[in-house]
Amino acid sequence: MNGAIFFSGQYGSTAQYAGWISDATGLPVFDVKHADADPSKFDFLILGSSVITYNLTISKWVKRNLAGIQKKPIVLFTVSGAPAGPKLDGWVADSLAEIPMSKMRHVALRGRMNPKTLGWWTRMILIMGAMKNRDPQARKEELAGFDYMDKSGIEPITKMVQQLQSNEAPVFQ
Ligand SMILES: Cc1cc2nc3c(=O)[nH]c(=O)nc-3n(C[C@H](O)[C@H](O)[C@H](O)COP(=O)(O)O)c2cc1C
Repeated sequence: MNGAIFFSGQYGSTAQYAGWISDATGLPVFDVKHADADPSKFDFLILGSSVITYNLTISKWVKRNLAGIQKKPIVLFTVSGAPAGPKLDGWVADSLAEIPMSKMRHVALRGRMNPKTLGWWTRMILIMGAMKNRDPQARKEELAGFDYMDKSGIEPITKMVQQLQSNEAPVFQ
């Protein structure tokens, strides 16, 4: 089985995780912004997506490429401020409603955000989001930023890639 990593990110943390996974597994890596990102040639897919305003940024690309994606085993990794949990699961289900969850394994990774590197409009969006957020920790992170990048978080993904490459893949049956 041959696979590849396709990722969508805006500020570099999803790209960094995708690069770490590629280094650890030898799988090729494609930014979905580039036209050569064609998933149809591969047997299994590692999809990486940042989460921006409760939405997976890869969702439009998934809709456009559905025919080449939906029958394949998929390992999805999300990169977000929020930790793993029902809130994040809900955003995944809403953003990728076309993909049967039984075909997909989800690994939640946490990213990085530095408000000083963002444009003023994006900072306004974050400030407005923080004002509405009832979770005090999440509110603090939206205003002050955070850095949860952790290379060891990719381990479950590299294990699943090994299983898929050796055709064991019990996780997908
Ligand atoms: C404008 C903006 C909106 C965001 N919205 C969310 C969100 O709704 N939920 C969340 O968990 N994280 C949110 N984040 C945090 C990002 O998911 C996090 O910074 C991630 O590492 C970004 O990935 P990237 O660097 O690949 O773009 C947001 C960040 C920004 C800048």
